[in-house]
Amino acid sequence: MPPPARVTLLAGAIAVMTALAGCASSADGARPAAGPRLSGRRDERTVVRSLRDVYEPYFAIGAAVEPQTLVTHHEILTRHMASLTAENHMKLHMVRPFRGTTSYAGADAIVSFAEEHGMQVRGHTLLWHEAAPDWFFEDDSGRPAAAGTVRERLREHIAAIVARYRGRVYAWDVVNEAVSDSSGTGILRETRWLETLGPSYLADAFHAAHEADPDALLFYNDYSLVEPGKRARTVELLRGLIADGVPVHGVGMQGHWTMTWPPVDLIDQAISAYSELGLRVEITELDVSFYDWNDHSTRFDSFTPGMDEALARRYGEIFAVLREHADAIDAVTFWGAADDVSWLNYIPVRGRPNYPLLFDRDHQPKAAFFAVTVF
Ligand code: GLA
Repeated sequence: MPPPARVTLLAGAIAVMTALAGCASSADGARPAAGPRLSGRRDERTVVRSLRDVYEPYFAIGAAVEPQTLVTHHEILTRHMASLTAENHMKLHMVRPFRGTTSYAGADAIVSFAEEHGMQVRGHTLLWHEAAPDWFFEDDSGRPAAAGTVRERLREHIAAIVARYRGRVYAWDVVNEAVSDSSGTGILRETRWLETLGPSYLADAFHAAHEADPDALLFYNDYSLVEPGKRARTVELLRGLIADGVPVHGVGMQGHWTMTWPPVDLIDQAISAYSELGLRVEITELDVSFYDWNDHSTRFDSFTPGMDEALARRYGEIFAVLREHADAIDAVTFWGAADDVSWLNYIPVRGRPNYPLLFDRDHQPKAAFFAVTVF
């Protein structure tokens, strides 16, 4: 699971991914798929059905994108996705990199593309400790800004971006990763937001978003939300917010999972736990890494037929659970369109190939695609 330090590398990774994203070919419609496939029901596993259509009765299928992905992965997106998330371009450090500067071009491009192609858009994310530029917390002379100043900047930022996309972005990840990874330090992660504003920053953020677009669904988003300890802390946090009348409508379970973690019964239990609070659930950042988070080896240096089959089994069991919870789940978003643009090729080990998505580096469907679309 991603530890707190991981996104010190994020800015570099974004730059590398931006540079590399332009070179792959595109996937096509219903044509025979090359490569090894799961045994059984072989015929059906050669027909590439639209993910979006297959899952229409269950939940919206989406992908996280950078603006350039709209071009490089056009076919995958337009044929298979019902929803888009801006991978980075709606984050605070991208929209307001410097004092007095706003940059919405990337986010605008993603929202327009989605509209052109009949897709919905998730907004990601209004407040995250790893997307918090220094200037936001400093006064004019570079000293720590007063809490009131930071609170007002945050309110202004949320009001502006949510209003800009009002009626076009159906859901926002209002707060990202606020819950602590260990029980020893209380419910909330120690961040600049907490340190500067105290625990009320969560309620403030949700209220500001709700005011700017009363129709948008507002989510709390985090990783490891299936892990029982973190699940309990998150449920406690959400219960408190709901009891205080804070407009929180859903839980985004990121879903940066691996071949071995989590067991599907934990996924099942977590979805039930959050929906029992009366909240909608989305899987917001789905990918399946071949490496556990602390494994910095390069032992999976190429994608073998055996790995293709193993990933297919893993995705098959995950989607079986997700389909069982279709009543609670509104959308399942992959963190990337195809393996060539996954953050997992750069983090935590720069340049190490990973194979976490349904489409390979040539944008062809993998066995996992068929495990998810033929059931
Ligand atoms: C977190 C964030 C995402 C993305 C990933 C990968 O999960 O929510 O926006 O940055 O980390 O870096």
